[in-house]
Amino acid sequence: MSRPPNRRIVLGVAGGIAAYKAADLVRRLRDRDFEVRVVMTAGAREFVGPLTFQALSSNPVHCELLDEQAEAGMGHIELARWADLVLVAPATAHVMARLAHGLADDLLTTLCLATTAPLVVAPAMNQQMWQANATQANVLTLLDRGVQVLGPGEGDQACGEIGPGRMLEPEEIADRIEARFRGGALTGVDVVVTAGPTREALDPVRFLTNHSTGKMGYAVACAAAQAGARVSLVSGPTALPAPPDVDRVEVTSAEEMHAEVMARAARCDIFIAAAAVADYRPAGIAEQKIKKSDGPAALDLVRTPDIVAAVAAMDNGPFTVGFAAETQSVQTHARDKLERKGLDMIAANRVGLPDRGFASESNALSVLWRDGGCRELALAPKAELARDLIGLVAERYRAEHPA
Ligand code: C5P
Repeated sequence: MSRPPNRRIVLGVAGGIAAYKAADLVRRLRDRDFEVRVVMTAGAREFVGPLTFQALSSNPVHCELLDEQAEAGMGHIELARWADLVLVAPATAHVMARLAHGLADDLLTTLCLATTAPLVVAPAMNQQMWQANATQANVLTLLDRGVQVLGPGEGDQACGEIGPGRMLEPEEIADRIEARFRGGALTGVDVVVTAGPTREALDPVRFLTNHSTGKMGYAVACAAAQAGARVSLVSGPTALPAPPDVDRVEVTSAEEMHAEVMARAARCDIFIAAAAVADYRPAGIAEQKIKKSDGPAALDLVRTPDIVAAVAAMDNGPFTVGFAAETQSVQTHARDKLERKGLDMIAANRVGLPDRGFASESNALSVLWRDGGCRELALAPKAELARDLIGLVAERYRAEHPA
């Protein structure tokens, strides 16, 4: 029987007791018509023999990076190219640390660097190791890069403790992988997202800007791509890498962001304005550096274009989602902004609290839409929150544009 195309999974098995469950996972993936090639770390081989995975996957098992015979068969670059998806299950604290830091000290971590395929990890470890600050920081790094993290679940652990850290059951992992391949809620939809701050030049060396890091917008772009959308990310200056499967357009000023968005808005289905666009820019940019000796300086400021309002005002424009940062009466002010700017949906966050907002890793959102609907998304890492927000955007968009 011929295999449906594009269902090739490299399954990385790391050295935790849950490695025995990875054997069952291979079967369940194959039941769903995936072709599976298994890569084992040295630790994994202490728990389960390669022969088990070879028999279950009907493919040779890959263990060594620097093995002449293996490299002559299917080396790490070929494996990296072969994969439509790389799944690491179980992902131990150690393998996640190596992935987060870009180490390439064995076959699995090297091929994760060498592949353009999406990476999914299913963590499995002792609950204290999962909750350790270092592990949590590594998870956030991976989430920021667009890695999908499945689980972990909570409950009794092999070590006798109880808590978060159990690998999800193979059936659930296989279902989640299948759902990802089947296509998400935004398959075939064109989405434009703005993110980051803008910089408004005063002279050749100075500019006005704000504290935005771009994290929320990048997480939204990444979640939209994971939901199957074709995503353009129009980004102000940030320190973030482009998320996988996202077309990033880099801009500096509000005017440039406006031009790039308007060039795409008529052709897109959904526009999400997550950028912290400067509301004002200097009326003119001095050609030469302004000197202290020039005497007291005064800033003459003019308004920048309101990008989201301009898109919302288009005839037959896209489904338009704005963001709002409020310090009080979040819902009232957000609803007012939704109406004033003619948006379809608005995601409002309460700023001025220590655990959320601009440079924070987490956030909480009140999401409101046009017919009076509203949903609260509780405090969560920005990547998780972005996935929930994209779920809501897809739901409302589909309600207005039934297939
Ligand atoms: O009016 P305010 O700046 O509070 O509105 C915030 C929303 O408007 C955000 O979605 C932001 O991306 C968008 N915005 C914009 N262009 C501007 C100012 C804000 O698209 N010039």
